[in-house]
Amino acid sequence: MSTDTPEQEQPLRTVSGIGTNHAEEMNELLAQRLTSVIDMELTLKHVHWNVVGPNFIAVHEMLDTFVAEVRDIVDQIAERIRTLGGVPTGLPGALVKNRTWDDYSLGQASTQEHLRALDVVYDGIILDHRRAIAHGANLDPVSEGMLVDQTATLEMQQWFVRSFLKGTQPDEDAHRFGSADRAPTDQEAAAAPASVSEETGDHYREMAVTGANAKGEGSI
Ligand SMILES: [Fe+2]
Repeated sequence: MSTDTPEQEQPLRTVSGIGTNHAEEMNELLAQRLTSVIDMELTLKHVHWNVVGPNFIAVHEMLDTFVAEVRDIVDQIAERIRTLGGVPTGLPGALVKNRTWDDYSLGQASTQEHLRALDVVYDGIILDHRRAIAHGANLDPVSEGMLVDQTATLEMQQWFVRSFLKGTQPDEDAHRFGSADRAPTDQEAAAAPASVSEETGDHYREMAVTGANAKGEGSI
């Protein structure tokens, strides 16, 4: 009979150069972000199915591209938790238990109604990602960098959503955006320009011109 400790009882190890306490605290932040992005992935697919009306096919196809990107973000966060020695939870029961918000409220609805609702969803998830960046910078700069890149992707997606909406020019509803968020911290302001990769920029520029992303997905 082997004297080895069963795998599930072996202590998990974190990365070099970071204390166990910091790794555990970072993983608590990442677990909250994991819950949010799993919910986001499911919500985007729900809207993909239930949107109707003008620009249907453009919105329908765009949302599937967003689902794929958010799915990648889900995977990155879960695997970062593992890398730091934690155990990510992606099961439906845990998602419902850990989240602090209600389900997205719309079923079948127009493109304008869904995109306005999604704009609010993006406000929340981006703000929480930015808060995790600010907090995580003192714990693990590698996780911080991952969250910065993800925030750039989410903010690009929100820009696409807002581009479909009437009354979203800055001079038309500055009051709405002006009161919806806080000013960025100096740290966030410094991090933001470096967070947009060349690849991401090419991806969205191509989508803007052709309606498809750089891999040819989402063609309309
Ligand atoms: Fe589909």
